[in-house]
Amino acid sequence: MRIVVGITGASGMIYAWRLLEVLREKKIESYVIMTHPAQKILRHELSLEPDEVYRLATEHFEVDDLTSPAASGSWIFDAMTIVPCSMASASAIACGLSKNLLLRVADICLKEGRPLIVVPRETPLNTIHLENLLRLSRAGALIIPACPAFYHNPQRIQDLVDFLVGRILQRLGVDHDLFRPWRSPPT
Ligand SMILES: Cc1cc2nc3c(=O)[nH]c(=O)nc-3n(C[C@H](O)[C@H](O)[C@H](O)COP(=O)(O)O)c2cc1C
Repeated sequence: MRIVVGITGASGMIYAWRLLEVLREKKIESYVIMTHPAQKILRHELSLEPDEVYRLATEHFEVDDLTSPAASGSWIFDAMTIVPCSMASASAIACGLSKNLLLRVADICLKEGRPLIVVPRETPLNTIHLENLLRLSRAGALIIPACPAFYHNPQRIQDLVDFLVGRILQRLGVDHDLFRPWRSPPT
């Protein structure tokens, strides 16, 4: 399985890091594209350099390289997830504005009917954000907001991160044990 992991300049770099870590553990091919704002936020939130993220992946593509194999629908991959997804990138994808490689690969997903999982991170959401996410959903993207649950009794930040990453993996069709599914307590 080949998964493209797009990382944009929203808060929540820990989600991308954890997803790549799990994909690597499961020996699933991952291809990273990281925007320039994402690289700055990565340094700020995780004190990591982009190369340290790229090392978790099978390969990375430069976001400005629109001649990359990934810029063509003829390059085959199974799904893309954009995690975290900024409102700027969500807006550009919703408008078909493929001005960088990450946006172009998302556009390819929509035109080729390949799964696109968008993990938006912003709060509060204005009407423009909501309309763009609706457009993406209508165009075939799956929206998984970076919005962890608490019904699995998280004890650590890692539990919250794993819940969200687990939901992404579920939709990618990857088995995981990152959180326990809900079961009503015995009465
Ligand atoms: C520390 C920091 C945190 C940010 N967090 C968010 C966020 O959570 N969501 C968002 O939509 N934009 C956020 N932004 C703004 C985006 O980085 C900005 O809109 C940028 O143009 C996104 O570009 P990109 O989508 O190409 O990565 C943040 C910016 C900074 C500096």
